[in-house]
Amino acid sequence: MQVHVKDLQHWQDNEDFTNLINEFKSLPALYRHALNDLENKIDVIKTEWQVRDGFSPIEHVKCRIKEPKSILQKMERKGFEFNLENMEQHIHDIAGMRIVCAFVKDIYRLVDHLSTREDIRVLEIKDYIAHPKPNGYQSLHLIVAIPLVLLEGTRWVKAEIQLRTLAMDFWASMEHILYYKFDKQLPSHVAEELKDAARAADELDQKMLRLRHEILELAEGESPAGGQV
Ligand code: GTP
Ligand code: MG
Repeated sequence: MQVHVKDLQHWQDNEDFTNLINEFKSLPALYRHALNDLENKIDVIKTEWQVRDGFSPIEHVKCRIKEPKSILQKMERKGFEFNLENMEQHIHDIAGMRIVCAFVKDIYRLVDHLSTREDIRVLEIKDYIAHPKPNGYQSLHLIVAIPLVLLEGTRWVKAEIQLRTLAMDFWASMEHILYYKFDKQLPSHVAEELKDAARAADELDQKMLRLRHEILELAEGESPAGGQV
């Protein structure tokens, strides 16, 4: 059944559509549980890092479930017929998590760790840190699957994890605000300045990393036990 957002009103009396929507409505709860599980796993890592090193490189974590309307719009945009199979197979960011780290190298440490776990399947990695988008956007995106034990058995639920530094998060949040306010093609000089700002964020990340190394070395020189920054 092909469902279009603009036809929603018209479809409301259709029994097939009602069944589909009822099933569709029950799905966010599944994604919510899977996302809660994932959040808990990240929380454990954070605590372990904190206890072991006296410092957790995970600054903060944000989670969100995609609105049903946005899911429908995305499926329509991508040209998929609306059914639950297509939705589960092709829409990877219904459950979304953003992890903001202090330093770039911590992002890779975290990804390396997540890739070794049996309770997380890493299905796809998009490294926009090594290869920024043309507009300057940097982040590392993972598509993962999380096991959710249900009455029917274990179901692997997909989620998108975006990993960024504080500087990358600042840039992406600002770009989002500016872009959505403008709502048109950006004039080329503005796009160029945004790209410049992304380069500045990248330089700031590198500078902070250099400072971290320097401070670590100083701390090691001072105390026999060394220190963590
Ligand atoms: P869709 O999943 O269909 O959006 O396409 P995709 O899979 O190619 O997307 P991608 O993995 O590149 O990006 C997914 C998400 O990353 C977006 O929904 C945004 O949250 C974020 N993102 C990607 N590019 C940009 C960008 O240029 N600026 C900002 N602010 N966020 C971005
Ligand atoms: Mg995507």
